[in-house]
Amino acid sequence: MNHQTILVLDFGSQYTQLIARRLRELSVYSEIWPPDAPAEKIRARRPSGVILSGGPKSVSDAGAPKCDPALFELGSPVLGICYGMQLMAHTLGGQVAPAPQREFGHAMVTLTSGSSPRVRGADIFADVPTEIRVWASHGDFVARPPAGFSVLATSVNAPVAAMAHVDRGLYALLFHPEVAHTERGLEILRNFAYGVCGCTGDWTMASFVEEATAKIRAQVAGGRVVCALSGGVDSTVAALIIHRAVGDKLTCMFVDNGVLRLDEASQILKRFERLKLPLVFVDASNLFLDRLAGVIDPERKRKIIGATFIDVFEAEAAKLGDVDFLAQGTLYPDVIESVSIVGQSALIKSHHNVGGLPERMRMKLVEPLRELFKDEVRQVGRKLGLDEEFVVRQPFPGPGLAVRILGEVTPDRLALLRRADAVVADEIRRDGWYARLWQSFAVLLPVQSVGVMGDERTYEYTVAIRAVESRDGMTADWARLPHDLLARISSRIVNEVRGVNRVVYDISSKPPSTIEWE
Ligand code: XMP
Repeated sequence: MNHQTILVLDFGSQYTQLIARRLRELSVYSEIWPPDAPAEKIRARRPSGVILSGGPKSVSDAGAPKCDPALFELGSPVLGICYGMQLMAHTLGGQVAPAPQREFGHAMVTLTSGSSPRVRGADIFADVPTEIRVWASHGDFVARPPAGFSVLATSVNAPVAAMAHVDRGLYALLFHPEVAHTERGLEILRNFAYGVCGCTGDWTMASFVEEATAKIRAQVAGGRVVCALSGGVDSTVAALIIHRAVGDKLTCMFVDNGVLRLDEASQILKRFERLKLPLVFVDASNLFLDRLAGVIDPERKRKIIGATFIDVFEAEAAKLGDVDFLAQGTLYPDVIESVSIVGQSALIKSHHNVGGLPERMRMKLVEPLRELFKDEVRQVGRKLGLDEEFVVRQPFPGPGLAVRILGEVTPDRLALLRRADAVVADEIRRDGWYARLWQSFAVLLPVQSVGVMGDERTYEYTVAIRAVESRDGMTADWARLPHDLLARISSRIVNEVRGVNRVVYDISSKPPSTIEWE
């Protein structure tokens, strides 16, 4: 691989992959390496630059991850972010201390404009305004930078929000430039990658497809692969890449889990026929609904759906004879929210495509999209010739409508939610909002409230409308849908869906809420 490369050393931040992803956005190839990678190995890889990620620990904690101190002597530019900054300061003789006022969330950063240090380190802040709103997440700060470093920026609560030793190519930021909430964050990373490291942007999504294909071919080495299709973009793109790599050694399998949307199964069948992907279709809806009967707890629902999926899948896969590999369209946000990488990040939801896989499946996993975010998968999909309507399809979770019916999942409630959801989809599309939204859907709240219809008292369910904008599903904001559109959705639902007399609009962002209700 001859691309210019920036190595990202991972100190356990939720945002490490986001750094890699931003670099890809800048057409720079990156690899994520363990925090303590020996400097000699790094030198041998000849990176254009190195980024030290954030992390949940304090540099003074026992067992806090450290980098090889010789890293700073290699001559490759280094950018420390948050924990990475503190580690750089600590290692090079500066002082790191608990911040009197911790910063989590938005903070204002002021560049030390006009002063000579600013000018000397200006390359990383080229074209960035003097005041920027950033995303911070730290309890410690740099009280005194190491010798030879200049302070490039301050914030109200931190005397050193950015520092650099320009001659040594060492830069550090206390905030997260990789997060969408940091104004001009991508420009700061571009300044580092292009301005400081000298990258020219020689990597594309087409290179990703080539490399992923080659990697799968090498991993699978003539074995047979079965791909669990969800009907969505991710697993379809995964299947297309694998098909490209191993041809008819691939069999795709689609399981109807009984919690799909209106007409979804038949649409999926037609689509895969068009794509000419070899497909086995299994209708297991009754089995899933039987096992879900009486279950209320969201995590149990997820676990049951995951486990049942595996049961069905395993039984069907057995009919195919010897299969060595299981392919899935797992994306990075699924991974980060389901596993704790350094043992620090809390489990938020067990995503069914990752968490449910029991040890007993003796197939090895093939996950070509594991490092990508949704919009990157869409770009890959376009490269592989998928039609635009399908590519911009909103994500739909593996546990389907089961996590959008609060409480027990029953056939009646499913029928009701399917109709309400179809109304939402129809109106959102008609109004031209569909592609602008990350997701838009209906949620059934089986609490009853009093209403009046045609002079009669009613006592029926509530439907909540969820519509969010997001870049990658990691954070999201509720969409400011026009009131007229909401009004049409509301009146159609109460008129067309029996059993619902109230419609509400969810105005929560993520965090602190999540996108799905369960
Ligand atoms: P939350 O609700 O955690 O969802 O904010 C983030 C994104 O992930 C989708 N999601 C899932 N996708 N299997 C999936 O394939 C799952 O179990 C699952 N749970 C949530 C959700 O729709 C949103 O886009």
